[in-house]
Amino acid sequence: MASEEDCSGTAENGFMLPEVKFTKLFINGSFVDAVSGKTFETIDPRTGDVIAEIASGDKEDVDLAVAAARDAFDDGKWPRLPGYQRGRIMMKFADLIEQHVEELAVLECIDSGKPLLVSKLVDFPSVISMFRYYAGAADKIHGETLKLAQELQGYTLKEPIGVVGLIIPWNYPMLMFALKVAPALAAGCTMIVKPAEQTPLTALYCAHLAKQAGIPDGVLNVVTGFGRTVGAAISSHMDVDKVSFTGSTETGRVVMEAAARSNLKSVSLELGGKSPLLIFDDADIDMAVELARQAVFFNQGEICVAGSRVFVQEGIYDEFVKKIALSSKEWIVGDPFDPRVNQGPQVDKRQFDKILSYIDHGKREGATLLTGGKPCGEKGYYIEPTIFTDVKDDMLIAKDEIFGPVMSLMKFSTVEEAIQRANYTKYGLAAGIVTKDLNIANRVSRSIRAGIIWVNCYFAFDNDCPFGGYKMSGFGRDSGLHALEKYLKVKSVVTPIYGSPWL
Ligand code: NAI
Ligand code: MG
Repeated sequence: MASEEDCSGTAENGFMLPEVKFTKLFINGSFVDAVSGKTFETIDPRTGDVIAEIASGDKEDVDLAVAAARDAFDDGKWPRLPGYQRGRIMMKFADLIEQHVEELAVLECIDSGKPLLVSKLVDFPSVISMFRYYAGAADKIHGETLKLAQELQGYTLKEPIGVVGLIIPWNYPMLMFALKVAPALAAGCTMIVKPAEQTPLTALYCAHLAKQAGIPDGVLNVVTGFGRTVGAAISSHMDVDKVSFTGSTETGRVVMEAAARSNLKSVSLELGGKSPLLIFDDADIDMAVELARQAVFFNQGEICVAGSRVFVQEGIYDEFVKKIALSSKEWIVGDPFDPRVNQGPQVDKRQFDKILSYIDHGKREGATLLTGGKPCGEKGYYIEPTIFTDVKDDMLIAKDEIFGPVMSLMKFSTVEEAIQRANYTKYGLAAGIVTKDLNIANRVSRSIRAGIIWVNCYFAFDNDCPFGGYKMSGFGRDSGLHALEKYLKVKSVVTPIYGSPWL
């Protein structure tokens, strides 16, 4: 077991780090420098060292990418291909990702800090199966037939929405890429993908694979760079028909404002969360402890649906506190290349500082630090799994999305109280319920305003299961056939039939 002292994450455990082959913008099927010639550094959070210089896009580059996507949409074959053909090319894309998974997973690991095994065994299998899921949906897009009054008949056509901007965050670089790119491709859209500046490597690599798979030039463009340059240019562009965004609530608001001020493009937002995990007296306590630990420490706590507010009913509260404290000590922080490690470094210095300042705030607000609370290792952005007890609903650590390995533990008495406190948040992304009582499970599931409820499980995602926000966690759904709808428009076609007064 790696101890806290040796969690600096410098050892590569025999892994050969791959050469970074793709560092330029991918526009109209070619890798090109930014018009300005500028680059930015992408950093390895294990050490703070620079991995590579990446082309830093700006408005001019977004203009070029949008022009390519516009041509590919207005005159190109992708939106006009039979869905089956789009699906076959997407299947090939999925196969190519699968064939390159070793290299991709290592790139994802050095760029984001997530444990290599998690990337390889959890993220990438989901990415690959998601492309296959939507490939299978590409030839099953159909409308309705309508029997209308006045001897009219009609039908609806579902058409691709057009050129889409896909702005993605750094916590799940490849999974977020798949969540947005796969349904957009299946729908027949063309797109500009903007990866997060912290984690550009795998999206660029996939752009190369997309070309090999036969996705026509201009359909999938990747413009790397910053939010205030590339992201802002996409969301305010007059020729972009839709933006799908995942990230912070503050930036989601800016994206929506830019869309409103430009061409009123449609927007979908998957934003922050402060999800509750409710553990009732009758719960299997060991299962509850394991779910709670995973819910907030998995992926370094950098998960929009993290169960960061853990409410435990008073009958089992004391026992739960003892067990979760022990179990968090067995949660290994360290080099993400070490297969024993559960938690790697936070993505960058900014997030690292932000999380530590929330921990400080928690102490000053009067919460009790049960475990953790400190950085660890000599370099890199590692933080101990941290648990606060005696947390009050109005404390900042109970209200804000921390996006790090910090749990707020709270005690409750009744089912009514649990529901009321779980809903006491501006967010509404997810919730977990641990109970053997079906009545409690049903009642609480229906009373919590959140996009996905997990009963006796957590992070139980599936390609066919939509998720997304209530309240300030955003709107629009990722995953499932609901996500396909985001990239489609409905057109009605109406015609009179024999005997109609119209004829
Ligand atoms: P962010 O929301 O600013 O970044 C997400 C994406 O939006 C990145 O690609 C970024 O370049 C882009 N972006 C930034 N400003 C933009 C703008 N003006 N117009 C268009 N795109 C823009 O999040 P950031 O700063 O990386 O992280 C801050 C906090 O946001 C985190 O601590 C966490 O609380 C939250 N967050 C939530 C995520 C989620 O999945 N819900 C994912 C990432 C961050
Ligand atoms: Mg990085």
